[in-house]
This record gives sequence, C-alpha cells and structure tokens, in this order.
Amino acid sequence: MSKITKSSTAEYFAKNLQQVGFSSPLKAVLTTLKEAIDNSLDACEQAGILPDIKVEIAKVGSGSTKNTDLIKIVVEDNGPGIDADDLAKVFGEYLASSKFGRGQCSRGQQGIGISAATTWAQMTNARGAVVISKTKNMRKAVSAQVDVDIKSNTGIIKNKESIDWVKPNGVRVEFVMDGRVQLNGDGGLVTYVEGTVLVNPHLTIEYKLLDNDWQKVERVSNEVPELPPATLPHPHTFKLGEFITHATLFGKTSLSKFLKTGFSRISDPTINDFVKNGLPKSLVEKPVTSISEENFKSIFTAIQNTELMAPSTKSVLTVGEDALSKSIQRLGQVDFFSVVTRKPRICDFKPVVVEVALARFIDRGGESDSPVQLLRFANRVPLQFDKSGCAITGAIESVNWKSYGLNQPKDSLPLGPYVFAISVVSPFIKFKNASKETIDASDELVDEIRKAAQQAGQKLSRHIRKEFKEADLERKLAHIEQFGPILVEKLALLSGANDARRKKAEDGLRKILGRDSQEAISQLEDAETKLNKQKQKEAKKFGFDLDETSSEEDSESYRDMDSDDSAEKGTTKATTAMSTEKDTQKTTEKTTEKTTEKTTEKAVASTQKSTTIATTQKSTQKK
Ligand SMILES: Nc1ncnc2c1ncn2[C@@H]1O[C@H](COP(=O)(O)OP(=O)(O)OP(=O)(O)O)[C@@H](O)[C@H]1O
Ligand SMILES: [Mg+2]
Repeated sequence: MSKITKSSTAEYFAKNLQQVGFSSPLKAVLTTLKEAIDNSLDACEQAGILPDIKVEIAKVGSGSTKNTDLIKIVVEDNGPGIDADDLAKVFGEYLASSKFGRGQCSRGQQGIGISAATTWAQMTNARGAVVISKTKNMRKAVSAQVDVDIKSNTGIIKNKESIDWVKPNGVRVEFVMDGRVQLNGDGGLVTYVEGTVLVNPHLTIEYKLLDNDWQKVERVSNEVPELPPATLPHPHTFKLGEFITHATLFGKTSLSKFLKTGFSRISDPTINDFVKNGLPKSLVEKPVTSISEENFKSIFTAIQNTELMAPSTKSVLTVGEDALSKSIQRLGQVDFFSVVTRKPRICDFKPVVVEVALARFIDRGGESDSPVQLLRFANRVPLQFDKSGCAITGAIESVNWKSYGLNQPKDSLPLGPYVFAISVVSPFIKFKNASKETIDASDELVDEIRKAAQQAGQKLSRHIRKEFKEADLERKLAHIEQFGPILVEKLALLSGANDARRKKAEDGLRKILGRDSQEAISQLEDAETKLNKQKQKEAKKFGFDLDETSSEEDSESYRDMDSDDSAEKGTTKATTAMSTEKDTQKTTEKTTEKTTEKTTEKAVASTQKSTTIATTQKSTQKK
C-alpha cells in the first residue's frame, strides 16, 4: 500500500481556492476587496466605532499568469486594530477567527476569508499581505508582510517594523496580486461598493477605482448597529453527521451539558422529554467522547422526535426602513422607492429577517424592457455571483409582478428601470458553498422573501397606477387641447357668435383643461416689471451699475437651476430662496423665464409644469 500523507488546512485551501471565491482573476479582486471590507466593518461594529473606510484599487503592471493584470488592492479602516502578535494568525492562518460559530449576524463566520486573499497574492505575486496595524494601546503602529506557510497552516511575519502612523487605531492591508478588474455589472466593483453603501447607512467610504477620481460617500446614520446577543443553533437544524462533529468540539463534557450549552432551547426538562422519546437514560451523564456512533444515532432520533420551542428571534439585526430609505438616496436621484423591513421570523428553525428596497433612479437610465437590477445581500454583504441558484432570485422570480404593474417574462425577473435590493440577515445563513455566494433555497425562506417582496410590490403598484392615471389624463387633455379650439372656432362660425363670445369660450376651455397659464404669465410679467423698477431704484440708491450685477446673478441662478432637473427639488429651492430680497428677485426671474419657456413650447404639459407655475404665482404674490 502506498504511504498515506496528511495535508494541512492551508494546503487544502491553496489547492481549492476556487471554493472560497478565487475561481477567476476577476473574482479574485472582488473577493479580496469584499473580505477586507467585511472584516473592517465587523471589527468596527464589534468595537462600537463608526467606520471610515478608504479603498484604492489600481493596475500596477502585468500579471504573471495569462490575461491578467497586476492589481493593487488597499483597504484601510479606523477600527480597533489588530495586536502585533495576532497578525500572523489573522492574515496567514486558516480557521483563525474571533467569530467562529458565535451565532451572531456578523459578515465573517469561518476564519478563512482574508487568509485566502493572502494565499492568492502569494501564489500569483510571491508576496502575501502587507499590513499596518495600530491598537489604542500601541505607542507606534506595526508594519509587516504576512505570508501563509502552506505546509503548516501558520502565518510567517516578514519585514516587521514599528512605524509612525497618523491614525490612533485601525488597520491598513495591501495586496498585490494577479487579477482583472470589472467595474460595472453584476460582478463589478462599483456594484459591490454601492451595495455595501446601501445596507450600511453608518458607513463613510472613500474609494478610487482604477483611473477614476476619488469618490466619497458620507454616512447617513450616526448609529453603530448594535450586534444583538449571540444565539446557539437549534437542534432541529442539524443533520446526524453535523451533530456528531459538533459533539466532538465539546471533548469530555457530559452529554447533558453538551446538549444544554451547545444548542438553544434545551434544558433539564427537555432532556427528560428526550429520554421519554428514546434517548437511553444511561447516556445522559456520559462524556460525549465515550458515546458510540450507534448511540449518537438514537440520541439524535430522540431529539428530532421531540417537539421543541422555536428559537428566539432576538439575535437578528435589521438595517431598518428609515435608515434604508436614507441610504438608498446615496446611490443617485431616486424618483420612487419602497422599503419593507419584515418582523424577524423563524425559517427552518433559524431566526431570519428579510428587508426589501425597491427604487427607480432618475439618472441611471435602465431600459424598460431589460430585467430589473437585483441586488442580493446576506448578513449585509452583497452577493454577486451564481444568481440563478439563490433563494433570493428564486423568490423574486416566483412573484407575479404583472399584478403590481410590471412586465415579467414567465419565471423570470420583472422588467423595468428598477433596482430591487433584498437583504437576508440571520446568525445561521445556509450558503450553498464556502464562497458564500448563494443562499440555499429552502421553501420556508423562499416564502418569507416572497412575502417581503410582495409587500414592497404593493407600494410600487400604487405608485405605478398613479403614474399611469396621470399619463392617461395628460394624454386626454392634450387631445382635447389640440382639437378643442378648432371645435370652438367652428361652433362660433356656425352660431355666428361674435369675437368676444368666441374668446370667452376659448378661455373657458383652457380653464377646464387647467391650462390657463396665460393669466399666470401676465401676472409674472407684471411682477417682472415691478422688480426691474425696484432694481433700478436700488441701483440708483447705492450707485452701482445695474447691468453688470444682474447679468452675474442671472448666470449664477441659471447654473443653479440647470444642475437641478427635478421639479420637486426646484420647487423646494425656490421656496427656500424667498427668504432674502435678493434671492426673491432671482427666484422670480428664474421661474418666470422657465415658465415662459415651457408654456410657449406648447408641448404636452406635465404636472411638473403646473408645479412650477403654482410656485411662481406664490412667489409673485409674496413679492
Ligand atoms: N481589519 C480588521 N480589524 C480588526 N480585526 C480584524 C480585521 N481583519 C480581520 N480581523 C480579525 O481576524 C479574524 C480573521 O479574519 P478572517 O476574515 O480570516 O475570518 P472571519 O472574518 O472571522 O470569517 P470569514 O472567513 O467568514 O471572513 C477576524 O475574525 C477578526 O477577529
Ligand atoms: Mg472575514
């Protein structure tokens, strides 16, 4: 027989990096960024710090492998920092984690993420992670390179030195690795950053992606999300094999202690119930190490046959509707959004919360005949690959979006220029693979996501219906507006009515249609004349050249208005601007000009138009 050898955990992962998100140069860059940001956000959350994260991704040369670039990825945080003695474990050792099996809704769970990034950098560029770290207790920061010793699964520290660093505490990690950068689309870096921004309202992030300029997105919440207390897994979520492995972690502990401290909802009375249902009483106080596989089977069966209380839902964390509503506006100008935070539920004996945000952005384009952009999140981490097998995708595709006013091909995502963001939070999310890219689609979870989506869909449908009605009404009005005057003219001819009667009929028609803007325009012209007189008076009084100042002011105000294409915003601006006399002048002029332009265009009038007219009248009256 050939010799049996053992491989280390690091050796296993180094050979199977594709299992943890490093299956292509493109994914390598995204996964590295994601693992580093996850860690920064988790660390800040644990330490109660509002995260300020800085990210830089740059091409620094050609990669050592075919069709790759050499990519530098830097992530810097203001978290608690890492002790110098822990750097080797964190960046160079697999299965070293402060979150392992804790039953909290943290982003990281497995103690694999960042060491996998170190391994990829080392394998492709012969250099692991370069780290700077400082905790509050350190006088100076520590800087070092950390490599993974693949044979022994330990971290190797190189070039360690004490350095001065401007930050009082935090971590800066830099990787240089073979990779490829995709900015947009499902697997893009921008999509990742935007998703992270959306579900982390308390995050301020500054980032530079390739040759693009630095971007900064400020936090919209000053509250660090409070991580709810950890929870233990419910015994009904286990399979026999997992149950036995879980037991081995408890060493010589007695079976009763293992059950009471390893799971939720088990107490002495529950163990008595297990005994009634077939658990051999003689095993109750035996150390778990001495229990045979056969006995484990009967213990496991007795537990599964006993009814237990559902787990508590206290361990889940939500972003919240208010924070989500604010956060969504950081992604662009929104003209409609609907957010829903469901109550925590139990799905498959695990506490879970589903949150949904549906939004339509003004400046994002998006075709009405292409599928909505679906953003998926698990424990506030964007999921960007393997969309098709995910519980979230399945749930959204199974909703009948036609009944909410959207087009939808059969069993597919609905169509339209919308962003659908669906977040699932649970201390025990079941992923389909170690790379945490797809949530396992159990019936109960899919059903819960569907309900959340339907709730948000109802709000969306009210909005779409309203828009449809407005557009329909506008179409009808435009039709009457086009043919009404012809009708009036012909009727006047037939009835031999005089000009005054005909004009009255035309005015009446305009009034009925709500298009009596002529009156508003003449009021505005009046206001403008008065304003000019006032200006001239002032110019005379203060002895300045009227033409120069007014032209400067005008160009200023047009710049303002031009950069602001939302009617609603324009209205708000106009209203606030009325506080000073100078501003009053500007506003009225500005709006007058705009209104005149619009009405003379005589195109299909819109609600936007009437808003502007109404505002102008108001400001004129005020004046
Ligand atoms: N920026 C950081 N600041 C403070 N601590 C950190 C930072 N990055 C990593 N750590 C510590 O290092 C540990 C290991 O990180 P790693 O990413 O390997 O695993 P994880 O986050 O626990 O789980 P996962 O593999 O699911 O990401 C973390 O649990 C955390 O305690
Ligand atoms: Mg991690």
